[in-house]
Amino acid sequence: MSESVRPFVVGIIGGGQLARMMYAAAIRLGLRVRLLAEGPDVSAAQVVADVTVGDYTDPATVRAFAEGCDVITFDHEHVPTQILRELEAAGVAVRPGPDALVHAQDKAVMRERLTALGVPVPAWRVVANAGELRAFGDEHGWPVIAKTSRGGYDGKGVWKLDGVEVADEPFAGLGEGVQVVAEEFVDFERELSALVVRSPSGQAAAYPISESVQRDGVCVETTTPAPGLTEEQAVGAERLALGIAHDLGVVGVLAVELMQRRDGSVVVNELAMRPHNTGHWSIDGAVTSQFENHLRAVVDLPLGDPAARESWTVMGNVLGGSEPDLVSALLHCFARDRELRAELYGKEVRPGRKVGHVNAYGDDLEQVRRRARHAAGYLMGDPAERG
Ligand SMILES: Nc1ncnc2c1ncn2[C@@H]1O[C@H](COP(=O)(O)OP(=O)(O)O)[C@@H](O)[C@H]1O
Ligand SMILES: [Mg+2]
Repeated sequence: MSESVRPFVVGIIGGGQLARMMYAAAIRLGLRVRLLAEGPDVSAAQVVADVTVGDYTDPATVRAFAEGCDVITFDHEHVPTQILRELEAAGVAVRPGPDALVHAQDKAVMRERLTALGVPVPAWRVVANAGELRAFGDEHGWPVIAKTSRGGYDGKGVWKLDGVEVADEPFAGLGEGVQVVAEEFVDFERELSALVVRSPSGQAAAYPISESVQRDGVCVETTTPAPGLTEEQAVGAERLALGIAHDLGVVGVLAVELMQRRDGSVVVNELAMRPHNTGHWSIDGAVTSQFENHLRAVVDLPLGDPAARESWTVMGNVLGGSEPDLVSALLHCFARDRELRAELYGKEVRPGRKVGHVNAYGDDLEQVRRRARHAAGYLMGDPAERG
């Protein structure tokens, strides 16, 4: 009595490495994936079987893509909310939905909402010109951080201004609907990431808190769990992120980027509503990876255990360096370290571009860190690791 069962189709918008790694998880779950990619050869388009190449800002393209998908999710947060609202009105499940997603798209909207919810954030204000920016700095002290409200990533669209050379720069060439947000410069001890997952039925899971290191606005390394965090601080950060996920109605992964002040307290930097670079450790270091849990949430399956399998997992990002042939360079890394895990994104090596990551894990944090740094450095062609 075999009745054919229609496959469940997840549409992923955006073809970067996050979509690629989501696809790996989708394969295990038996989900069909359709990809809306920016080009035929972007990271995820190289591996997904069902690819549409098109512009995710074009309503007709997105509408046509969504036809035949049971649910839509994302590799990035840049699909205009208006398009997503129309999809929802037409009965398409969009996860996370536009009302949540806007807080990951627009830093002014995010600051406003988190402030209203009583979530700790740096002092901030939307400023219309260099004069208002200067007034904010004179009030709150210099330096000041200025950010464009939309469109930035990896530190693009973030300026640290010392007051002397304030700075028409943030205001130059602002697109429509883009504002400048002035923020108190937080002289943080370190950056943390609280990663949680929430399903449509309201189930939620919190990963251990990670410490993340950014260089020039780009994540270079994470350590999980964050060393030296007290139980109270860890639980506090997890609860903060779970609360935000609940209050904003997030479905899927929510990454809350935190800055820890020197007194131990934290403020929220920004939100991401998709698998996040600070969660890549979970592929090898957690019982259930962020990619699988994101998909489980998106299709409303019970969430998997986010607990760490290992005492410590250190993730090292591989940023494009002087080594063009990453696959060949794995020979050295794997020969030297049998327990090392590496993931390459299929992207052409260009300076500073995220082209892969490595995970090292074990009981001795210093050793784990050395192994991750060596492998990531080697893959970047860093002379210090090439000896
Ligand atoms: N108010 C702030 N004080 C100090 N550093 C900040 C502040 N805001 C951002 N940063 C630094 O800049 C980095 C990038 O800022 P973020 O808002 O996360 O932009 P992006 O969208 O490019 O990730 C942060 O990870 C942090 O290192
Ligand atoms: Mg950020």
